[in-house]
This record gives sequence, structure tokens and C-alpha cells, in this order.
Amino acid sequence: MISPIVRKLVFISLLLSLGMTACRHQPLLPNGGATVSANCSTDTVYFVNDVLPLLQSNCAMSGCHDNATAADGVRMTNYANILDEVKPGNAGDSKLYKVIIRTDNERMPPPPRSAFTTAQKALIQKWINQGARNNSCLNRCNAAVFTYAGAVRPLLDGKCVGCHSSASPSGGVNLSDYTNTRTWALNGRLYGSIAHQTGFSPMPKNAAKLSDCEIQQVQQWIQAGALNN
Ligand code: HEC
Repeated sequence: MISPIVRKLVFISLLLSLGMTACRHQPLLPNGGATVSANCSTDTVYFVNDVLPLLQSNCAMSGCHDNATAADGVRMTNYANILDEVKPGNAGDSKLYKVIIRTDNERMPPPPRSAFTTAQKALIQKWINQGARNNSCLNRCNAAVFTYAGAVRPLLDGKCVGCHSSASPSGGVNLSDYTNTRTWALNGRLYGSIAHQTGFSPMPKNAAKLSDCEIQQVQQWIQAGALNN
């Protein structure tokens, strides 16, 4: 006979372990807990829209700062992990910012990978100085805009080129310039991968699927001939 107290204890510990499993899965939700604004302010840098995709695509690849490798104990995979390398409000004193502005071999991402551009460094700096918040906004993507320069290039630079540069083209795919991107657009693999179609590797790898609006922009650009417009 199991006493009611033992039964109660077993039940409670079951509940606890279920709760702990849920917590352990939490980091897989990249924008878990973000404060969402309906409108994007042009003065604000948004973690979920701007910073997370940049760090995931330039730092969180296998062999570097994904959860499995965690080189130097650093994981650039979600808000909580990224915040470990940041002093909110003080970019100059934040390890994340200090390593991306280095000019020697210790710079991140390390050579031969490209350094972040001046604009990308400024974006990360501004996000930290604005308090390094876990924020997100909704209305920035406009499906009616689907030119290469106006929609496709910024999307690829922000979410893909870290893994698909000319120096390190994952899977042999270089998306860092127009000519190469056009090849992957016209052979169907660019759309197949971002739309998560069967038979294609789902992209961006280890990150949230692009929004329907972003996928539509790429699709419409390809359907219109993948022009350099
Ligand atoms: C963290 C690294 C990473 C990011 C970010 C990433 N990719 Fe990839 N991509 C890969 C790797 C690695 C492969 C090779 C296949 C595999 O391992 O899944 C690949 C393969 C591909 C392929 C070939 C797929 C196929 O089935 O033939 C395309 C196209 C592609 N990526 C496009 C993109 C686009 C577009 C983005 C941004 C929206 C992106 N990738 C973001 C790492 C990445």
C-alpha cells in the first residue's frame, strides 16, 4: 500500500519535473518574453527584429557560439544568453560590443569571416545603450516593397550572410552579392529553403522562420525576374 503522503509527494515531484522540462525548453523560443510594439519606431533598435538575427547568423553557427559548441562559454542564441555578454546601457563596457570593434585577430566574428559593417556595429551599440531590452515590433515589413535593394538585400544581410558570405559559404551557398544570390533565386532553392518546402534545408538555420511578409517579398522579387533593382 502506498500512503497518501507518498502519493502526494510523487505527484508534486512529477509536476516539478514537468515544470523544469518546460523551463529547459524555453531558450529554444528565440523571442520568448519580448515586449512587442505594434509600431516600429525609427529611433529604437529592436532586439528580435534587428539584433538577434544578426548575432544568430554571424555568431551562433556550429563550431562557434551555438548552444552545442558554446566556445568560451558564449552562446549567441537567445536573449538571456546574449545578455550575459552585455551591460545594459553601457556598450563601451560590454564584452559583446568590445569584441566586435577590435581590429586584431581577436575580433569577432574572427577572420577570415567579415567583420560587422560600421552600420551593424552602430546598431548593436545603440541597442545596448538604449538598455539592451528584449523588444520587438510588428509593422516594419511591407509586402508591397519587393525590390532587390529595398527588401531582399537588407533581409539577406541581416539574417543570412553571416553563414552565407563569400569567405564562408555554408552549403556552398554565397548570398553576399547580387550575381550569386540571383543564381539561388532562379534555381528555386532560395525560396524553397525560406518557405520551408519539403526537399530543402529550412532557413535561416537554427533561427525563427522569416515572417510571411518577408517570404512574400522574396517570392515576388523572384517572380518578377530577380532583377538588380
Ligand atoms: C547559422 C547559419 C545559417 C544561417 C543563419 C542561414 N543559413 Fe542557409 N545554410 C546553412 C547551412 C549549414 C546550409 C547547408 C545545409 C544544411 O546544413 O542545412 C545552408 C543551406 C542553404 C541553402 C541551400 C538549401 C538547399 O536545400 O539546397 C539555401 C538556399 C540557404 N541556406 C539560404 C539561406 C537564407 C536565405 C538564409 C537567411 C534567411 C540562410 N540560409 C541563413 C547555414 C545557415
